Amino acid sequence: MGQPRPARNQSAWWRSAVIYQVYVRSFADGDGDGTGDLAGVRARLPYLAELGVDALWFNPWYLSPLADGGYDVADYRAIDPAFGTLAEAEKLIAEARELGIRTLVDIVPNHVSDQHPWFRAALAGGPERDLFHFRPGRGEHGELPPNDWPSQFAGSAEPVWTRLPDGDWYLHLFTPEQPDLNWAHPAVRQEHEEILRFWFERGVAGVRIDSAALLAKDPDLPDFVEGRDPNPYVDRDELHDIYRSWRAVADAYDGIFVGEVWLPDSERFARYLRPDELHTAFNFSFLSCPWDAGRLRTSIDETLAEHASVGAPATWVLCNHDVTRTVTRYGRTDTGFDFTAKAFGTPTDLALGTRRARAAALLSLALPGSVYVYQGEELGLPEVELPLDSIQDPMHFRSGGTDPGRDGCRVPLPWAADAPYAGFGGDPWLPQPADWPAYAADRQVEDPTSMLSLYRAALRARRTEPGFGDGPLNWLPAPEGVLAFARTDGLLCVVNLADGPVELPVHSELLLGSAPLDADGFLPSDTAVWLRA
Ligand code: NOJ
Repeated sequence: MGQPRPARNQSAWWRSAVIYQVYVRSFADGDGDGTGDLAGVRARLPYLAELGVDALWFNPWYLSPLADGGYDVADYRAIDPAFGTLAEAEKLIAEARELGIRTLVDIVPNHVSDQHPWFRAALAGGPERDLFHFRPGRGEHGELPPNDWPSQFAGSAEPVWTRLPDGDWYLHLFTPEQPDLNWAHPAVRQEHEEILRFWFERGVAGVRIDSAALLAKDPDLPDFVEGRDPNPYVDRDELHDIYRSWRAVADAYDGIFVGEVWLPDSERFARYLRPDELHTAFNFSFLSCPWDAGRLRTSIDETLAEHASVGAPATWVLCNHDVTRTVTRYGRTDTGFDFTAKAFGTPTDLALGTRRARAAALLSLALPGSVYVYQGEELGLPEVELPLDSIQDPMHFRSGGTDPGRDGCRVPLPWAADAPYAGFGGDPWLPQPADWPAYAADRQVEDPTSMLSLYRAALRARRTEPGFGDGPLNWLPAPEGVLAFARTDGLLCVVNLADGPVELPVHSELLLGSAPLDADGFLPSDTAVWLRA
């Protein structure tokens, strides 16, 4: 096992943490059936300790028909048998903690699986219908959906209502297998507070909240009118009362929240981070930002300002299980860098994308706040263009097959270059591309220039230099196209996004670079360095 080490900043650890996202199904397969599982994660805990992460966030690991990769939960208190058992999850949480690694689980409060006992009882005509949004249809015979809300899956023209044989319709912002709960019902609130307690009792340190701004709905379920305030299903004021009571539950366990809150309005976003609500929320503006110094600086400044207004630390994330992998995104020169610009056959310069992803890693790890690393990001894995007949993501099907969906960033990890299936375990549920062994962790550990070696060195430096993480950031004068800022303890970060090499500040010691300096000691294009003044 890796070296046990104390977790730092015991009380406010989450303000500076590096949190590693585990998509269990694709992480490591312990029993050889082709699906990642808890046994696989337990076997790789030493790898995660060596990497130097502070916490793990697990995508939903609960009992689920996997209609949306586990975001369709049939029982929030049971582990899906494909992944393991509750007893194993408890062991995993405890073993990780012994290595100084905390655990976050993912709670999906907006919807449940259509196999959840509540929805099955609702379908059978029971009073459980009140726990969901059932409505008669419009039109002479109720043949039209009750309203016109758009699907939450980008590019999908599918309706968010499904009609039952008895004529009623039910609401699902995502797939028909994910009926939306009625958060105006007290039983829904009570059940979720009990679910939170259930997981905090099992030693988890925090909870990621799925689709956190969507739970509350206008009770009249009116049509969506562009620009009308308030929106009938996004960011409604009722949500804040829900999260204040969640906060009271978490406080009793010293637990923390990270909300999945996609909102363009920074003032509205910050409201979720008031001191009696969520501790943190994902910052998607930075992730969506093109590789452009001016736009990145604006995104960083706006992020820091909106968080400062409520005293919350920012979070930085380059990649997750829903978006195109970082090296591919930064290597796409023609579509821009919009992560939603998923398309088949998009030309990509992977060498350029990898170079920029390395620099972006050092940039994000030098910014104040916590950082999320998505499994495989530390290996520099690219997005995979899967054969059509192996795609499983409902987003692909709901787009009518035009959108590749999100499976390309969910391909099972390569651990060992010379082992079958690159050491993942059994024949993976999504096929690995032929060049996957080249990215294998065992090969990268041996190579000081690999992405894995860069991440390990950066996380080690971040751990020994408390000046990184939460705290002030001061911009330094820099040429056009260059980001340069100081943190405390004389720590500096310089990122060159300009076309040519730039001079570094004199009298500074080089701590770490995403690529070597050039022969004149200049910082090359698409390169970041950490310095000590
Ligand atoms: C956001 C999750 O990250 C995504 O994977 C999922 O499809 C939707 N929420 C619905 O739960």
